[in-house]
Amino acid sequence: MSEKEVILSIRDLYVNFYTYAGVVRAINGVDLDIYKGEVFGLVGETGCGKSVTSRAITRLITPPGRIEKGEIFYKRNSEVIDLLKIPDEEIRKIRGDEISYIFQDPTSSLDPLYTSGFQIAETMVVHDKAEWNEAWKKAVELLKETLIPDPESRVKNYPHELSGGMRQRVVISIALSNDPKILIADEPTTNVDVTVQAELMDLLKELQRKKGTTIILITHHMGLIAELTERVGVMYAGNLVEIAKVEELFENPLHPYTQGLMAAVPNPLQKIERLIPIKGSVPNLIYPPPGCRFHPRCPKAMPICKEKRPPRIEVSPGHFVECWLYVSEEEWEGKNNE
Ligand SMILES: Nc1ncnc2c1ncn2[C@@H]1O[C@H](COP(=O)(O)OP(=O)(O)OP(=O)(O)O)[C@@H](O)[C@H]1O
Ligand code: SF4
Ligand SMILES: [Mg+2]
Repeated sequence: MSEKEVILSIRDLYVNFYTYAGVVRAINGVDLDIYKGEVFGLVGETGCGKSVTSRAITRLITPPGRIEKGEIFYKRNSEVIDLLKIPDEEIRKIRGDEISYIFQDPTSSLDPLYTSGFQIAETMVVHDKAEWNEAWKKAVELLKETLIPDPESRVKNYPHELSGGMRQRVVISIALSNDPKILIADEPTTNVDVTVQAELMDLLKELQRKKGTTIILITHHMGLIAELTERVGVMYAGNLVEIAKVEELFENPLHPYTQGLMAAVPNPLQKIERLIPIKGSVPNLIYPPPGCRFHPRCPKAMPICKEKRPPRIEVSPGHFVECWLYVSEEEWEGKNNE
């Protein structure tokens, strides 16, 4: 991996939500490098922080949420910019242009009052990529590329006149309209049926092959992870607990949480399987467990796990895990005295 160019680096990211019930410590020091042109998968059970992490990349965290700390470096040609430090105006320019999103629910991503063509064209006009006339033509092209039947008339349709699958294709067209460098797809196929899911995934795969777009794919669908991604990150309760190449993660999961997930997926490489929850309940992130946040559910927990957060260890090249089991005794001593 070392020869690959890093396009995005998340460093020490913390996000909290200030709710009436207390402070939800949602993202707890996440570090992640994304390589240019790769498809990176992010998995983990509901509420572990996949969406919040991906939204933090372009500061799409709204109150009561707040990005507490961290750096998110984005490499644009020869310059490197910290997306958390640039002015609001700059991040607005990047969002929907260089970095774009496909969210799970097309209904909430689309405005019911405007036609699909208008909404696609608008993204280009707002980012000064085209005048209306040209943008409108490109909207038809994009719908054609997303394989919507009869795109010339579909551009004139309002969202309610389209099926769920078509609406999601419109959302994809909006996300692709400015040729993003990074596309973040957050459960992009959850609300559509299996056939449409496969078609949409083929589309994304084709895009990645043709344009070399970097894709971050968030999904519960282990089959999609196996089929589409090159590397995977596993999140648990606001921590990124393991990162590895996809084959490595399926064949040799190291973190007890990942091991639990894999045991619950009988044959992920051959059969499309969804992620099945493992035993125990997700911790309350207002009062997260001390030390390793997984310790109350971990079959291998040791005394230190309850006290100190495990450091990240690179067990083999590119395979990272945050777990005390992989810390050598000398390192353990060092870490214990920190
Ligand atoms: N607006 C909010 N107010 C309070 N807490 C929030 C809010 N949004 C997110 N959270 C908390 O942040 C944590 C991470 O949420 P996130 O949406 O990132 O989970 P996720 O991994 O995307 O889950 P899912 O698989 O269900 O989409 C959760 O514990 C959630 O309760
Ligand atoms: S650090 Fe301890 S509790 Fe956490 S996953 Fe590893 S062994 Fe289990
Ligand atoms: Mg989510």
